[in-house]
Amino acid sequence: MTIGFIGAGKMARALAAGIVRAGVASAKDLVCSSRSEKSGQPFLDLFPGAGARWTSDTVQLVRESDLVILAIKPQVFPEVLPLLREASAGKLFLSLAAGLTTGKIGAGLHPTARIVRAMPNTPMQIGAGASVYAGGPAITAADFALIDRILASTGKAWRVDESQIDTITALSGSGPAYVFHFMDALIQAAVGLGLPEKLARELALQTVLGSAQLAAQSSLTPLELAAQVKSPRGTTLAGCAVLEEHDALNTLMARCLAAAKTRAEELARGDS
Ligand SMILES: NC(=O)c1ccc[n+]([C@@H]2O[C@H](COP(=O)([O-])OP(=O)(O)OC[C@H]3O[C@@H](n4cnc5c(N)ncnc54)[C@H](OP(=O)(O)O)[C@@H]3O)[C@@H](O)[C@H]2O)c1
Repeated sequence: MTIGFIGAGKMARALAAGIVRAGVASAKDLVCSSRSEKSGQPFLDLFPGAGARWTSDTVQLVRESDLVILAIKPQVFPEVLPLLREASAGKLFLSLAAGLTTGKIGAGLHPTARIVRAMPNTPMQIGAGASVYAGGPAITAADFALIDRILASTGKAWRVDESQIDTITALSGSGPAYVFHFMDALIQAAVGLGLPEKLARELALQTVLGSAQLAAQSSLTPLELAAQVKSPRGTTLAGCAVLEEHDALNTLMARCLAAAKTRAEELARGDS
């Protein structure tokens, strides 16, 4: 199976590495395209001497590929899709772009092109991604199985209804940045209380990592796990009381996800 990547950036490289690792295709069956040959080199460097190729000819890339992965920024689609219209007849496409619906992408391609849309996230780069995917009625069970296998090769994958994707973009697509902000806030607060920055960073990172691993391995809900740490009159109870005061953290996260979802909806409408 030949898999073509239009865009050879972070997400393309993460998926390509997963595809080869999972044995979905071998490196010699991967072809990528980017604006310059130089920027495609890091993609080729993933598979030294294994035969992955770079091309400037996206039309030829689509013709020879069984699956085309659109790993370009949403703003680039209007320039790229019209070139691919004829070559896309009957082909399967996987788009990673935030805010672009399968309907909108389909309108730019041949009517017989089959389009699946995914929302991955950056932990995909280390095989710990959370990805969802959705596609219309033209997508076959075999198409969905292939896409699931590819996305699951870089973490976990869920098939969802396309109407859920803007909310999911706000949760897991943007979510890594919220966690990084939370980690930074922990570090800043500890430094403010006198801890050296390096030690604060290492402790904050290991606390978030360990807590996520504990939550993943436990059958308890996050709040049940929190309750286990809150002994009566203890330090955790005192700290959590501040988070829960006036529903502070819940209110903040509700506003945060709502803002990200609104932005995803604006992108879907074509607002820049
Ligand atoms: N990063 C995230 O957190 C994240 C999460 C979920 C979804 N996504 C989506 O994944 C997609 C890729 O994101 P990314 O972070 O991998 O982007 P990226 O690292 O900036 O890579 C973009 C790639 O597109 C190429 N490109 C630009 N114009 C092109 C053209 N006309 N023809 C062919 N290739 C072209 C670029 O090549 P040059 O370098 O030569 O310009 C580059 O290889 C985006 O749609 C993004 O919305 C990203």
